[in-house]
Amino acid sequence: MKIGIVGGTGDIGEGMCRRLSSRYEIVLGSRDAEKAITTSECTVEFLKKYGLKSCCYGVSNQEAVNAGDIVILAVPFKHLESTLSGLSGFEGKIVVSPVNPMEKRDFFTIVPPPEGSAALLVKKLLPGARVVTAFNTIAANRWKDLDVEIDVAVPVCSDDADAKSVIMDLVNGTSMLKAYDAGPLAVSAMIESLTPLLLNIARYNKMHDVGIKFV
Ligand SMILES: NC(=O)c1ccc[n+]([C@@H]2O[C@H](COP(=O)([O-])OP(=O)(O)OC[C@H]3O[C@@H](n4cnc5c(N)ncnc54)[C@H](OP(=O)(O)O)[C@@H]3O)[C@@H](O)[C@H]2O)c1
Repeated sequence: MKIGIVGGTGDIGEGMCRRLSSRYEIVLGSRDAEKAITTSECTVEFLKKYGLKSCCYGVSNQEAVNAGDIVILAVPFKHLESTLSGLSGFEGKIVVSPVNPMEKRDFFTIVPPPEGSAALLVKKLLPGARVVTAFNTIAANRWKDLDVEIDVAVPVCSDDADAKSVIMDLVNGTSMLKAYDAGPLAVSAMIESLTPLLLNIARYNKMHDVGIKFV
């Protein structure tokens, strides 16, 4: 199974590539393919230190979409719509949104689009895609630090049961992540709003990379 990452040179893209590229073929996308090639080469070198072989390569965002059976949208919310408007070929693909539409004001707060959530906006913009919300609450530093297992919960929601199941299996096969079925894609609004909460908890309690668990 190939996983394309749009915006794969960023914190989440690079972190997910480190964790996933020893088991999946990761196609890192960027607006600038050379930048993605550099990120993929760095990942290969990084994983060598752990005795792991990384299967990843850098391409343009469009090529990442074309190649991926799963496409992860690892771009900031403010660039989501413009990025998707320049890309095509999402029909039938599982498109994962970890995107959190939030802002830092006096504190972190959710600022959803009129559609209700980033994932619902993705569904509107990519009508043929099988949109899944996942990975919203895992801090990039946790993805990147291979010395520590990621022992947190991952709420996953979608209107496509098979797509949701594929992503939940991917979650459950990664480090110590545990997937929870959160229901239909409309629940994405609640999942996305967890992240500004976690950032406020981290800030006001002097914590880092706070995650969630359900017990
Ligand atoms: N960071 C976290 O801890 C975290 C945790 C959970 C979820 N998320 C979500 O994951 C998504 C990615 O977060 P991130 O922290 O990885 O973001 P980021 O590092 O700030 O940016 C990711 C990538 O987006 C691309 N990008 C930047 N400006 C752009 C523009 N004007 N137009 C199009 N693409 C642009 C860049 O790729 P190129 O320059 O290579 O094109 C960049 O490497 C966000 O939606 C965020 O809410 C983040």
